[in-house]
Amino acid sequence: PAKVRIRHLHDAKDRGRPFSMLTAYDQFSAQAFEEAGIDVLLVGDSVGTTVLGHSSTTATTHQDMLTFTGAVARSVHRPLVVADLAFGTYETGPADAVRHGVELVRAGAELVKLEGGHAVVPQIRALVEAGIPVMGHLGFTPQSVNSLSGHRVQGRDAHGADQLAEDALAIQDAGASAIVLELVPASVAARITEVVQVPTIGIGAGPACDGQVLVWQDMAGLSGFHGKFVKTFADLRRDLTHAAEQYRAEVGERSYPGEEHSFE
Ligand code: KIV
Ligand code: NA
Repeated sequence: PAKVRIRHLHDAKDRGRPFSMLTAYDQFSAQAFEEAGIDVLLVGDSVGTTVLGHSSTTATTHQDMLTFTGAVARSVHRPLVVADLAFGTYETGPADAVRHGVELVRAGAELVKLEGGHAVVPQIRALVEAGIPVMGHLGFTPQSVNSLSGHRVQGRDAHGADQLAEDALAIQDAGASAIVLELVPASVAARITEVVQVPTIGIGAGPACDGQVLVWQDMAGLSGFHGKFVKTFADLRRDLTHAAEQYRAEVGERSYPGEEHSFE
């Protein structure tokens, strides 16, 4: 299958064919998602909370993003690879956004994602002018978890919904190629999906978005996170625990390694 490009996501929107994005942070999971036909891999700053043991993505560093972006980009061929700009690497202005965006592209990212609406319009313009395509991220924006007073659905009232739609149009006009909508009422996400020309990608944003994204350890049942918007398509925590228990038991009773695993 052909390499996924931004224009394929735009075609998918125009044809009404939803596409799928998953987070990925390492070689074998990224390869499994490529084999499964996942179109877009997001090296999210969620690597901080899913792999590195932090409790907030505000702890994820630019160096973390470079390391894991490189791992994923080296491991796959077909999916579009998107990497998050870490907290603190773009809020300070367009020059910082471009400097860090360039490094993510050097590490293998094909688009960079940043959180926010009107406030990051200059950053988006500068990145796009530098030849770096941008994915926006609106609704619940995890890097602002403290200002937003926790993980909460955004845009519930009419004013909030209007503001989200305005932000979506603003970042589209600044040049964003796609927009993640996180924790947004389904009706609001549907309206935004209709008013913007670029694809929307939902997480906890209902079925009308042009694409969907989940954190892979959530959808595979490894993290144990069961938010309302998450569906678990596997029970990797159980399977992995069983495998480790079995291994421990067989080592304890000397049934592993057997002759077939041993050298003469
Ligand atoms: O970092 C991440 O995993 C994300 C997705 C939840 C969209 O930004
Ligand atoms: Na993120």
